[in-house]
Amino acid sequence: MELIIATRNAGKRAEFETLLADSGIRCTDLSMLSTGIPAIDEDATSFAGNAIKKAVITAIATRRWCLADDSGLEVEALDGAPGVHSARYAGEPCDDQANNRKLRQALKGCNQRTARFLCVLALSSPSGKAQIVEGVCDGHIAAEPRGKHGFGYDPLFIPENYTQTMAELGDSVKNSISHRAAALRLAIERWKVVLTTLPPNWPARE
Ligand code: IMP
Repeated sequence: MELIIATRNAGKRAEFETLLADSGIRCTDLSMLSTGIPAIDEDATSFAGNAIKKAVITAIATRRWCLADDSGLEVEALDGAPGVHSARYAGEPCDDQANNRKLRQALKGCNQRTARFLCVLALSSPSGKAQIVEGVCDGHIAAEPRGKHGFGYDPLFIPENYTQTMAELGDSVKNSISHRAAALRLAIERWKVVLTTLPPNWPARE
């Protein structure tokens, strides 16, 4: 079974493939396709809006089943910021270290450091009918960045029930507790029938 993942990020495809390994689903990302996919602006005001937009446009363009995600960090004391702007919180171009510096600055002297990572997954049929599931990883923001694994805000994010940051905990712990893992677990449970009967090749069926 093949599923198109609406990303050009090989790391993200690999993460999905690892998390979906037990389901026997093969993941293909956009860089592996010969079909031209139009550039997609992630300009929706919610994670769900962006995930649905990416999944539907890619599914219609490829005429295959497509999975897209949108994710980010919400900090309670910042009214949910950086939220959908997580990737470019400190401006263009996307820079993880600058984003982390800006976040530390925004929370300077603040004791309320509750935060959560959120991931919305959208699955679209070849004709563009989409469904979504959501996964959350609760935690709080550390005073100083720590650790070398992961990406984005991982060096500043301490998951609930842990004392280390996500970047210190590393990939195998992250893959068991992350917002993406939670969303995928739900996706597999809810979309089991469609995911396990996906047509292997063109032409797509629904
Ligand atoms: P996207 O959904 O891949 O576009 O992610 C948007 C942004 O959210 C990333 O650039 C990161 O800044 C942040 N983000 C999403 N997931 C994670 C994660 O697992 N760890 C750290 N940062 C994340």
